[in-house]
Amino acid sequence: MKETMIHLRLAELRKAKKITQQELADSIGTSYQNISKWENQTTLPDITMLPALASFFDISVDELLGLVPLKNEVYQDSKASTENYWNRRLEYLERTRKESWNEDYLQFVVQNVWKIDQPVNILDLGCGYGYMGLLLMPVLPGGSHYTGIDFAEQLINHGQTLFQEKNIDGSLILGDIFEMPEIMQYDIVLCQSVLRHMGNSEPLIKKMMKLAKKNGLIVCIDTNREFECVGLYIDGMDYGELCNHAGMEKYWKCEYENGDRDYAAAMRNAHMMRKLGIQNVQIRMSDAVSFVCPEQADYAQKKSGFVGENSAWSGKTDRVKAVSHMVSKGMTHTEADNYLNRDKKVETFLREHENACYTRFRGKMISFGYNP
Ligand SMILES: C[S@@+](CC[C@H](N)C(=O)[O-])C[C@H]1O[C@@H](n2cnc3c(N)ncnc32)[C@H](O)[C@@H]1O
Repeated sequence: MKETMIHLRLAELRKAKKITQQELADSIGTSYQNISKWENQTTLPDITMLPALASFFDISVDELLGLVPLKNEVYQDSKASTENYWNRRLEYLERTRKESWNEDYLQFVVQNVWKIDQPVNILDLGCGYGYMGLLLMPVLPGGSHYTGIDFAEQLINHGQTLFQEKNIDGSLILGDIFEMPEIMQYDIVLCQSVLRHMGNSEPLIKKMMKLAKKNGLIVCIDTNREFECVGLYIDGMDYGELCNHAGMEKYWKCEYENGDRDYAAAMRNAHMMRKLGIQNVQIRMSDAVSFVCPEQADYAQKKSGFVGENSAWSGKTDRVKAVSHMVSKGMTHTEADNYLNRDKKVETFLREHENACYTRFRGKMISFGYNP
């Protein structure tokens, strides 16, 4: 194993135990100068010292070396299932939605794949500010009606304003999806980027089935995180380095096993739909790929949004928090550091290169089928 993979957690362990470097040195039979060097990572302890150090702190050698989280580093919930979390994400949602669909492709799906030629009643569960409604209504047959439900008040309020401004027929309801009365059945029930934030997709898909008419269309749309991780190319940067997300697979697995987010929901949705009895399940993919270059009128806006995304965790305090968050999900300190350094490198490159061009592919999968 390379030395760079090691993040000796000595200083924090000693401070947590409230002992001096001299006291620690005396306990394990070395000098305080050695302890100081190890804490600063100027040198690493001899391999024969590791068991004594680990046993002093009652942890494993792997924990001491930062290769696995400490036992007491409890899992930090993503909070992505709470309305407070989403109420603070309007700007994020607006920015990321903009590049996620091509309107002509959505029109193709509506007319040629789903073959919708009569007015429909459509229900969007976890609608946010109603983005899918704003996009779908102009391509659905006249007389169609959109209903969206979301428990984040800020998003619903913003959506209501947008629908009014654009004069689009739609009702945005503030409420919890699971408390929505099953009085009325809809022709189309959809959800976009909601299942990936729920560890278990079964309850929501079952709810969708209860709210859809017999033979009604059920649509689950999600992006796949693995695709996103290899879906960024920046002209002038090393693509291999951009793709490197070592350790993130532990983070995703840990969240999934804790019933938190499922970043592979896009891959699993169709299988759950089929198991629950939805008929003729199929999958399509949104053809949207962002190719961003200075010739485009909205270049500055797109680029600054993207820079903001990459600098989200780069502040010092946030970075400490981010590392601790990632370590609580099974990543080593080094993996978390490397991942954040990669983000920082992207941010720096984009700031320093006025005319930087990039390609971004998110891998949005559209799983759909018909209610039995
Ligand atoms: C990633 S956002 C997607 C929003 C929207 N579908 C879009 O694509 O723009 C997930 C949304 O699901 C909503 N949500 C999650 N769980 C919910 C629940 N139990 N009831 C209502 N809304 C919920 C959140 O408030 C958030 O707006």
